[in-house]
Amino acid sequence: MNQPIPSSSPSGDLQLDSQGRLQHLLDIEGLNRSMILTILDATHSFISANNQEIKKVPLLAGKTVCNLFYEASTRTRTTFELAAKRLSADVLNINIGTSSTSKGESLLDTVRNLQAMQCDMFVVRHQESGAAHFLAEHVAPHVSVINGGDGCHAHPTQALLDMYTIRKHKPDFQQLKVAVVGDILHSRVARSQLHALRLLNTGEIRVIGPRTLLPTSLSSRGVKVYQDMDSGLRGVDVVIMLRLQEERMAGGLLPSRQEYFQLYGLTQERVKLAKADAIVMHPGPVNRGVEIESEVADGPQSVIMEQVTTGIAVRMAVMSIALANRQNRKLVLPGEVDA
Ligand code: CP
Repeated sequence: MNQPIPSSSPSGDLQLDSQGRLQHLLDIEGLNRSMILTILDATHSFISANNQEIKKVPLLAGKTVCNLFYEASTRTRTTFELAAKRLSADVLNINIGTSSTSKGESLLDTVRNLQAMQCDMFVVRHQESGAAHFLAEHVAPHVSVINGGDGCHAHPTQALLDMYTIRKHKPDFQQLKVAVVGDILHSRVARSQLHALRLLNTGEIRVIGPRTLLPTSLSSRGVKVYQDMDSGLRGVDVVIMLRLQEERMAGGLLPSRQEYFQLYGLTQERVKLAKADAIVMHPGPVNRGVEIESEVADGPQSVIMEQVTTGIAVRMAVMSIALANRQNRKLVLPGEVDA
């Protein structure tokens, strides 16, 4: 990629129009509580639509959505593709490995060419923090950019699907103790989750991990920090496990995977420290035996597969809201009647 990408950018102004409506989704930072609740409520309608035999609705008919994944993905890419197809859009999945990126074409030139083919929306995953912001600054005025995960910065649709999953099981965020466990430092998922949990007025937010994998500024932002896993898990309602982002570690941050599992792995014994009805979450991909025991990942308190399914509906909600705002029209959700 030849174009420089800023390491991070403010999102608020860029992702909203002059009336404060969502145009791009780049980050949870810059959204407000009401916008998050609107997306979660819309997600609920799309979950109902996804449970019908005919899952398609015509909300993006005639539009073209382009998936641009410069980094590996199973869940995000496929659920965006399914979401766009269920909204009746045409979908392009660009294979970056066989695209002209390998001949030196920049991210921006790639997008300009796809825009010339009349793409209306880009879903972007990129190893550089700020890549989605950078594109949002440069696309044509009618085009939306949705961040599918950028570097260590943000993964907003993951955080939204996680909030939906929590709300489904535990509707009152103010009563909840939520623990986010593991490699917080390198996790775009954790950053977006922490913003969303704060916006939803979560009663107590805890992060648990080794000192080398925790950002320094967390406690000043109202988050309780624990380096001892057992203390941090005691009495929580929700446990969110994170993958060790070894591809982003400079090295020397961890003694070994085995020792990490001994200190921070979620085992059946440790789950008992949380409330008896606590739910266990993980954004995936799961490294069994590194951050979580298989018996817990597949156990009765795990909602990991539910998170995956919810990913389709939350992405349908985000794409429909952005497009309706672009077209300056009210979004009529599946099951609703236009007044
Ligand atoms: N949770 C998540 O982003 O998974 P993928 O990397 O498979 O998209």
